[in-house]
Formats: sequence, C-alpha cells, structure tokens
Amino acid sequence: MPGDKSISHRSAIVASLADGCSEITNYAPSDDCLSTLSVLSDLGVEWKKSGSDLTVEGRGRTGFVEPKNVLDCGNSGTTMRLMCGLLAGQPFFSVLTGDESLRSRPMARVIEPLRTMGAVIHGRSGDRFAPLCIRGCRLSGTSYTMPVASAQVKSALLLAGLFAEGCQTVIEKELSRDHTERMLDYFGVSVSREGGAVTVCGEYRPEARKLSIPGDISSAAFFLVLGTLAGEGMRLEDIGVNPTRTGILSYLEASGAPVTLTNQRLFCNEPVADLEPVKGKIMGCGIGEGLIPLLIDELPVIAVAACFASGRTTVTGAAELRVKETDRISAVCTELRKMGASIDELKDGFVVDGPCALHGAECFSHGDHRIAMALTIAGLMAEGETVISGAECVSISFPGFFESVAKVCGYEAITIEK
Ligand code: S3P
Repeated sequence: MPGDKSISHRSAIVASLADGCSEITNYAPSDDCLSTLSVLSDLGVEWKKSGSDLTVEGRGRTGFVEPKNVLDCGNSGTTMRLMCGLLAGQPFFSVLTGDESLRSRPMARVIEPLRTMGAVIHGRSGDRFAPLCIRGCRLSGTSYTMPVASAQVKSALLLAGLFAEGCQTVIEKELSRDHTERMLDYFGVSVSREGGAVTVCGEYRPEARKLSIPGDISSAAFFLVLGTLAGEGMRLEDIGVNPTRTGILSYLEASGAPVTLTNQRLFCNEPVADLEPVKGKIMGCGIGEGLIPLLIDELPVIAVAACFASGRTTVTGAAELRVKETDRISAVCTELRKMGASIDELKDGFVVDGPCALHGAECFSHGDHRIAMALTIAGLMAEGETVISGAECVSISFPGFFESVAKVCGYEAITIEK
C-alpha cells in the first residue's frame, strides 16, 4: 500500500521546520501530499524526491520565506488547514487557495480557534471559505475545546502553538487521529497528553530525523473489504495500525470477519502490522458516534461492504461526511442505489438493508477519490459491467489503485479511458 497520507503530510511539514536534513522513506505518492510539498517549496523549503524517498532540508523554526504567489493546496484539506496553523505565526503575509471542492469546504472551524491565539486570518464569504489570507503575527497559547472531532483543526492549533508564547492546549471530547502529536514527539518536540487534553509549548525546536512512513490503512481498507467479501490469501504488509485509525478493523470484527494482524511493531512512533483479511460471511451492525473519528474516511467502502452483509447496517453520528471532498453521504447513496442497493440517507449517516444483489451500472465518482475506489469494489462484486466516470481522481490518495486492483484480481492489464 502507498505510504499513509496523513502521516506523510506531517512528516514533510515537521521536517521542514527542523534543524538539519531529514530522510523519509515511503512518502505517499498521492496528489494531496505533492500539494504539501509544492506549498513548502513556495515557502523556501528545499526537498528532493526520488520515487517514494524524500529528503527535506529543514529551515529551522524561523527559516520560512514570504511566498511570492498564492499557495495552491489543490484538493487537500489537510494541507490547507495545517498550513493555516503554521503560517499564522510567521512574520509575513500569505494566501492559501485550492480547487473548487476545497474552496467550498468549511474553514471557519480553523480560523476561529486560531484567532483566539491572536491570528489575523480572513476568508471569503464572511471568513468561511478559501481563499484565505493570513497576516502572520505573534501568537499566544490558549486552551481550546474542539466542538467537532477534527485532527486537521487540532493539528493546525498544535503547529501554531510551536510559534506561540506560552503553551497551547487542545481539548478533544473524542480522540481524533494523533499523528501530529506522534510526529512532533519523534522529532524531539515534547507533547503532553492528559485525558482529552494535548499540550505543546513554543520553546521546542524539532531536530532532523530519518523516518519510514507506514502503509495507509485508509487505502488498505478497500482491499480489506474486497478480501473479506471475495479474497483468498491476501496479505497487506507494513500497514499503519495506530488505534486512532483502526475503526475499519473494529467494523470487520463486529460484522463477524475479523482481520488477522501479525508482525506488530513500531515505525518511528507509529504502530504497524501485516494485515490478512479472512473471507467470510458478514452481518449488518450499528456504527455510532464513538467509532466515527476512527473510520471516517472508510465509510464509503463500509457502505459497499454493508450491501453484502446480512441484515441492517446503520451508520449515525457521521454528519462530517457531508463536508469532505464531496457530500459523501449523498454521493455514496446515490451511486450505490444505481447498482440496486437498498441504502437510505440519514442526516448524519445512512442505513443499508443487506444483502443486496448489486448489478453493474453507469456511476460517477463525484470527483472524490474515496467514492471512486468504493464504487470500484462495488463494481467488482456486482453482476455485470460497471463504468465509473471521473475515476482518475483516485490519484488524490492512491495513484496506483487500479494497478493494485488488477494485481489482486489477476487481471493482466487495466485501462482507464480518459
Ligand atoms: C485528516 C483528518 C480527517 C480525515 C482526512 C485527513 C488528517 O479530517 O477525514 O482525510 O490528515 O488530519 P478531519 O480533521 O476534518 O476530521
């Protein structure tokens, strides 16, 4: 599997702030992670990429330069939100923008808490959307309680905290992915956690490191579902199994088909394991609020799995899905219904009554990589041919997705018609 997207973003960002040269292996090939590298270049960071090996010349805490142009984050919410935190405390002016999807995603959730630290940030439509302009200034640490579980917002505040006077605390009611905390810690920045509160203090300087990025469990999820429904002997090696990301494993266990984990170890502060899905019958189950942050990105493929489960699967507490790259509740229900699924939208989730006899159909990715990949798994399992338009967007997180599908399905070649 490609390197983990969330961890890759953080590795490049923290390495660029470090003193010295960091060597990163298995950096994600995803378009989103390339957007982060391109923004870092515009801030004066030098890096070299050879395949999935990345070398970053850190510029130290105060080494970024004022960008001469608008910073383009492409489709990447993680790039935009983390950069907001980083740029808020720099002594210069910057502007962040992105593609049409990113320009329609909520940014007040990051602007408002950064303002409590003293940040000067403005955005379009009453400070709700990008483009965002940031007049960097001196920040002060605060304590902020997150209203919605979001690792991107938490990370923006922690990165801003590195440039603030005093300490920055973020309190979360539900634990979101903790890669920023682990990455900072690995680079020698002390991060403390007490219950739901994470604190970082401004005086630390990251030091360059060598690191290896675990395989992306969110990319592996498509194959875990395929392997559970139809596979035999599939093994996914070196996959990140950070407990803040393993909701897909909990889901498959609750449905009656637990994945086998072997070779558990740590890659630079991040737990990894080899994963083997076990082919078996699955049952419908309930996925509620508590589990959502641990599998938020996997819900489109879970909707596909639920079509093959016996009984009802209900997902609730996932209203955040409506503000991802597209409205994923609406997109997944619309497209799976075209294939014959019995799936209904809820305001904060969906209900599937399985098993459904899926048939091939003409579907649309909605320009969303995870919708395109989930529909591919549905199409492989359905009777007849499925055509997915806009499937090239898989490159946002997993450029080699179709080649991997061809490999596990034993196809000789796979062609994508443009
Ligand atoms: C991410 C956090 C999650 C996730 C996204 C990546 C990250 O978003 O859905 O794909 O890398 O921090 P939120 O922070 O909006 O929950």
